[in-house]
Formats: sequence, structure tokens, C-alpha cells
Amino acid sequence: MYLLIPAAGSGKRMGADRNKLLLQVHSKSLIAWTLLAAEAASSISWIGIISQPHDWEDFKGIIADLKLTKPVELITGGATRQESVYNGLLALPDAAKQVLIHDGARCIATPNLLNACAEAILHCPGLIAAIPVKDTIKVVDESGIIQSTPDREQLWAAQTPQGFDVKLLKQCHAEGVRQGWEVTDDAALFEKCGIKVRIVPGEETNLKVTTPQDLVIGQFILSHRE
Ligand code: CTP
Ligand code: MG
Repeated sequence: MYLLIPAAGSGKRMGADRNKLLLQVHSKSLIAWTLLAAEAASSISWIGIISQPHDWEDFKGIIADLKLTKPVELITGGATRQESVYNGLLALPDAAKQVLIHDGARCIATPNLLNACAEAILHCPGLIAAIPVKDTIKVVDESGIIQSTPDREQLWAAQTPQGFDVKLLKQCHAEGVRQGWEVTDDAALFEKCGIKVRIVPGEETNLKVTTPQDLVIGQFILSHRE
């Protein structure tokens, strides 16, 4: 299975002086943890890291230190995650019929989850890892007044990995550019194009490291895993 790792963000909400994926938790960078999960997932045979060229020197050093056995390519990222993923899709080898997309910032996802998604995408056009939400979610207007309370039974928190048929996802991205759609994950493009996307059970520990607090939680989880 081909794996694309979006890693071209700047980590604004983390507030660090560099791409948050270069920050360390439990003595390895976030991107190193993500790459180690990909290396350990037997289903993954090729890894594309979508990233900004100004980070490439750091990323190359990390890749070399990890002594990965799988082929790794660096692909130039875009201004948004959506653009970054589209660049990644266009850089995939022709042999790639399905692809997994997994955020570099979800560095605590297990190899098992990557393998489960890689297996499931052989049997459907699109899927995402997701978990039922635990909180009651409110829809709130600009003045801070609650408009509605969606039924929690129907609410799931989207994670990555997300898996797709490559040809269909390329078509959906091209349509997104034509229509000016702005989305925060690839499943949303499938949904807008009317293509079914399945849920695969995600992991409660599979958080997207976004804020400094997440680094502390990530440190806790990773240090208890060994
Ligand atoms: N990403 C990307 N290209 C972008 C923006 C984001 O590849 N132009 C990647 C990030 O590197 C991250 C993933 O998409 O692995 C999820 O994005 P997010 O957690 O929002 O990371 P950042 O955009 O870096 O953080 P922030 O939104 O706080 O600036
Ligand atoms: Mg972002």
C-alpha cells in the first residue's frame, strides 16, 4: 500500500519557531514517530512525505537516522492541506491504485490501525478512521447562542488514516479546484462528489498533535507504550 503523509504545515496553533513535526516527544520528533509506525506496518510498501522544501534538510536527517527499509520520497507541499494532498496524489507512482493518507501530526496512531485501513480500502472506494464523539456537540452562531444539538448517536470524530481509490480521489480534487471547495480532509471531497466513504474504527489515543497540551499527552501515551 502507498502511504502519503501530509507534513507541510507550519504548526501555527503550536506556537513553536518551526514546523511542529520537528518538535520532540519522548525523545523523537513527531514525524519520526509517524514514520516508525509506517515502517512497522507490514501493509505499507512506499512512503511519500509531503513537506515544504525548507524542512527537507531536517527531514532527510531524520529519515537517515531511522534507517527505514521502505522507499521514502519527499514531495513539495502546498499552501493548504488540501493542496498538499493534491500534490502528493500527482506524485504517486502510476502503480498506485489505492492510497492511504495519514497526517504527520497523528504520530500516535498504531501500525495496526494503518494495516486495518490498508486492508479495508481494497474493498471500498473510500474510508476514514473515526471514533464516536464523547461530548455533546452544540451548533453555535456568531453571537455565541446555541442553535441546535445534533444527535450524538450520529456524530463521529474524523481521524486519519484515510484511504481512497487513487483515480477517484484525483478526480474529486480536480473538481474541488474547479468549484473552489475548501475542505479540511479528503473524505469531504468524496462526500461532495457523492461517493460513499466508510468508517473504520479509529483509536482514542490517535490524537492530532496540535497544541502544546497535546505534546504533553503525546509524551504520556508514547512513554507508556514501550
Ligand atoms: N499540512 C500540510 N500542508 C499544509 C498544512 C498542513 O501538509 N499546507 C499537514 C500538517 O503538516 C499536518 C496535517 O496536515 O500533518 C494536519 O494539519 P494541522 O494539524 O492543522 O497542522 P498545521 O497546519 O501545521 O498546524 P496549524 O493549523 O496549527 O498551523
Ligand atoms: Mg492546519
